[in-house]
Amino acid sequence: PRNIIIDTDPGQDDAVAILLALASPEDVNVLGVTTVAGNVPLDLTQKNARIICELAGFPDTLVFAGCDRPLNRPLVTAEHVHGKTGLDGPQLATPTMPLQDQHAVDWIIDTLRAAPEKSITLCPLGPLTNIATALQRAPDIKLAIAEIVLMGGGFFAGGNITPTAEFNIYVDPHAADIVFKSGLPLTVMPLDVTHKALTTKARVDTFRAMGTEVGRMTAEWTDFFERFDKGKYGSDGAPLHDPTVIAYLIAPSLFTGRHINVEIETQSELTMGMTVADWWGVTDRAPNCTFMGDIDADGFFALLAERLARLG
Ligand code: BDR
Ligand code: CA
Repeated sequence: PRNIIIDTDPGQDDAVAILLALASPEDVNVLGVTTVAGNVPLDLTQKNARIICELAGFPDTLVFAGCDRPLNRPLVTAEHVHGKTGLDGPQLATPTMPLQDQHAVDWIIDTLRAAPEKSITLCPLGPLTNIATALQRAPDIKLAIAEIVLMGGGFFAGGNITPTAEFNIYVDPHAADIVFKSGLPLTVMPLDVTHKALTTKARVDTFRAMGTEVGRMTAEWTDFFERFDKGKYGSDGAPLHDPTVIAYLIAPSLFTGRHINVEIETQSELTMGMTVADWWGVTDRAPNCTFMGDIDADGFFALLAERLARLG
């Protein structure tokens, strides 16, 4: 299995991504979950991460709190999508597992410094503040990073927080710029992919039919999440963004994309956080990421159903 660090701002779709990872030990070994301010403020994202790990039956997972605001801009949150708690929908338990004392960025740096070359994959599912801060503070950690696979951006699909920007990149475009310019192997799951991974009624019913707590919570989370996006993307259901990152680590053949140049807009208020993707190769800017464009959505949901059914 690959060693991974999940950097996240749960978020119902982050929750499903964490569940998928914890349910898939033959493919991924979750070294830790680092949390960042994003969908909701940090005190909630760190708490939510612990609720999710406990729900999955993995209370020994290391959970850290990281940056509570973007590098250069005030925090923008998304309660209008995720609800007040960030995990609205089902009744939530109060977590009993601990939050680690160390700051997430310090732990990321220490962990990467202690790791062999190219041995850890970073999986950012929220704004890139923690990852960019670590890369800035300790550029030597790049040696240990095998790859970064993140959810963020959008090109043909447009934006979901402004007409041109996707939420994770918009919240901290300066952090995203650092990550996209890092020179590290980068795979991106943009809205172009996630808007094809829709939680149709049949798919959500599959979760509910598991008859487990995880199945019920997943169905209630996706039901809640859906009310915001319903009808917007051409069929019933809402995009299930973040689990595509983990699915890619397990079954990369579910996705197709192009190795292209992507630059982040950090100047213009109008298009702040836009991922300017040179999909057609019209510039001579060097490719810096694999930008996915398509997903086998039925295969993706089949994988989710198979793996989540393993949890209690
Ligand atoms: C991204 O923003 C958040 O609201 C979701 O959790 C996902 O990471 C989608 O734009
Ligand atoms: Ca997220």
